[in-house]
Parts: sequence; C-alpha cells; structure tokens
Amino acid sequence: MTDRRRIALTVNGLQRDGEVEGRLLLADFLRHHLGLTGTHLGCEHGVCGACTVLVDGQATRSCLMLAVQANGRSITTVEGLAPDGEASHPLQAAFHERHGLQCGFCTPGFLMTLVEFLEENPEPDEAAVREALSGNLCRCTGYQGIVDAALQASASLRETSGQ
Ligand code: FES
Ligand code: FES
Repeated sequence: MTDRRRIALTVNGLQRDGEVEGRLLLADFLRHHLGLTGTHLGCEHGVCGACTVLVDGQATRSCLMLAVQANGRSITTVEGLAPDGEASHPLQAAFHERHGLQCGFCTPGFLMTLVEFLEENPEPDEAAVREALSGNLCRCTGYQGIVDAALQASASLRETSGQ
C-alpha cells in the first residue's frame, strides 16, 4: 500500500495543501502539484543548487527535502519574488541589467541563495558574494555577471531600506 499523507504549508504567502507520497521530494511537490515550475532540478542530489528555495527564510535544496518535511513550514520560491508579475525584485532587476541571467536554468537557485545572503549580509564585498555562491554551479561561463548583479542588488536594497 502506498504511504500517502496530507500536508499543509504556506507557499509564497498562500496556504496550500495536498496529499502526497512519503517519498515525494519538495521540489517535485512544488513543480508538479502546485505548478511552480520556476524551481529547477539539475543534479537532484544536492550539488548544483538549481532547486534552492527558502524554507522559513533559509536557503534550502528542495531536492534534498521531502514534501512531508515541509508540512507546516513557509516556503518561498522564485515565483514569490515578484508575486504580482509586474514589479521585479531588485535582485531580478539587477540580474537583468548586469547580464546575470546567462543560461536561465540555474538562475532561480542563484536568486534564492542571494535573497537569503543579502538579508543577512546587506553590504557584502565581492569575495563574500563569491563565497555565498560557491554552492551554486554555473557551467556556462564565469560568474562575473552574477556577482556584479548581486553587488548591484545589495546597493539598491540598501537604498530602498534607507541603510
Ligand atoms: S537539483 Fe538540487 S542541488 Fe542540484
Ligand atoms: S548561468 Fe546557468 S549554467 Fe551558467
């Protein structure tokens, strides 16, 4: 008999629920049950960072977490960065302006990693940004555009918050 359980969680500020198999990954729940396909799966074993989402504000690999473990938690996916689809998050705007998008496949993971990082480190230098991004793999080119975007976003976020 299949082990199925009901889960209820908050995703991008909305209450969501579902009945899932115990072995279902959080990434697959987000993508296939909720249709939030912005969360991408690359390696599926915790190496590449493409599947990164925020769980209770912490950057987390959704390929290493079961959907049932997310029961009662608050999840933010890349879709939650610009919920009305109109105004981009300052990080998204900076990625656009500084050519940080590149392949686009790994980008949601980079964005979610940086959201947490910039909240905790509002004024990082380049070395700190590179260190923060060391768990997210980009194989298409150097990280320069992504690093530039992170530094630009940190400046605009500080401006917005009056720091
Ligand atoms: S898909 Fe999760 S870390 Fe690569
Ligand atoms: S930007 Fe995605 S692999 Fe380089």
